[in-house]
Amino acid sequence: MLPLLSSSLVSLLHPYITGDYLTGEMASELASIAERLAAPGKGILASDESTGTIGKRLEKAGLPNTEDIRRAYRELLYTTPGLGQYISGVIMFKETLHQATSDGRRFTEVLQQEGILPGIKVDEGLAPLPGGGEGETFTRGLEGLREACGEYVRAGARFAKWRATLKVTDQLPSPAAVQRNAEDLAAYAKICQDCGLVPIVEPELLIDGDHSQERFAAASQQVLSAVVSCLLSSGVALEGCLLKPQMVLPGADATGGGAGPEQVARATVEVMRRVIPPALPGILFLSGGQSEEQATANLDAINRHARQVGRCPWALSFSFGRALQASVLKLWSADRTSVAPAQHLALQLARVNSEAALGRYAGGQEGGQPHPSRLSAESLRENFRGWGGQQPPK
Ligand code: 13P
Repeated sequence: MLPLLSSSLVSLLHPYITGDYLTGEMASELASIAERLAAPGKGILASDESTGTIGKRLEKAGLPNTEDIRRAYRELLYTTPGLGQYISGVIMFKETLHQATSDGRRFTEVLQQEGILPGIKVDEGLAPLPGGGEGETFTRGLEGLREACGEYVRAGARFAKWRATLKVTDQLPSPAAVQRNAEDLAAYAKICQDCGLVPIVEPELLIDGDHSQERFAAASQQVLSAVVSCLLSSGVALEGCLLKPQMVLPGADATGGGAGPEQVARATVEVMRRVIPPALPGILFLSGGQSEEQATANLDAINRHARQVGRCPWALSFSFGRALQASVLKLWSADRTSVAPAQHLALQLARVNSEAALGRYAGGQEGGQPHPSRLSAESLRENFRGWGGQQPPK
């Protein structure tokens, strides 16, 4: 009956027709890794900044961007005692995956001993999208990805991440950017699963701009539904896959300012309920430039609201980079012998976000403990994380 099917139906059925599917054993192994990553009250520490991105952060903190400083900083994070209570997985950059502590223990082993799964950023950064709107990007790294994933698995990685960015204005993202990034995210996810890695699919809608929260919600819905459709038509097993979206926020320069946690929660939950299938075990939000306190308060409100309105079957947790690290880097960079206080702070940041992932964060409210952030409400926005014409990371 194939000739009678529409082309979109054929593409949806493609993996069934070609038999391009995982074995039952592999599918259940991937599903169990994804379940572990999205376990209740646990989230991911994204410490996979490329050499260029971590370099900008170190520079801002007054430190040189040398391999040993990068290694020492990641050692501080990964050897935080008790981190595994709140953190299920750590995303690393290629360089870090092969590094070890100063006393010679491989990072991957240190993490596994704490019950934390090692993960790896597999994309190669952003490039301008041919035929896209101004400032629109695609993500490089599909070429050679299968071979690279085999190597990452041998080095101990159990999951992967690929970040696409989408710019929001009244006209953007363009249909070309939505389609290209959704297709590439699905192609990446399929390759990862074939190699035994759980893919974290990250379509980051950038907060830069003056768009309203309503505009951001519409763009989120458009992007996420295209991503889900491409994942399905590429034969990605949703049970062994995780999503890493931006919360639904107004643009950083929107007139009328930011939105409070309840407003963020309502808009975010509404979009997720509309487009994310229940088969996907977890939605692990990025912090995307919010302050540490905001990211925690918004995640907490999302979980409270989801519980109240129901029909939200996925874990709603965090895969934060800046919101788990900014205060820690500030403290450590001021005095690199202050490892124990910096680790205590890292643990406290992980703890409050774990509470927020359960909708049980009491800080910021009357009688609650203050948030551990040393930066208070300081925005962690970085305008170089879209396409600023910078050289691709080495
Ligand atoms: P932020 O939480 O700092 O946005 O980082 C998450 C991440 O991994 C972006 O790729």
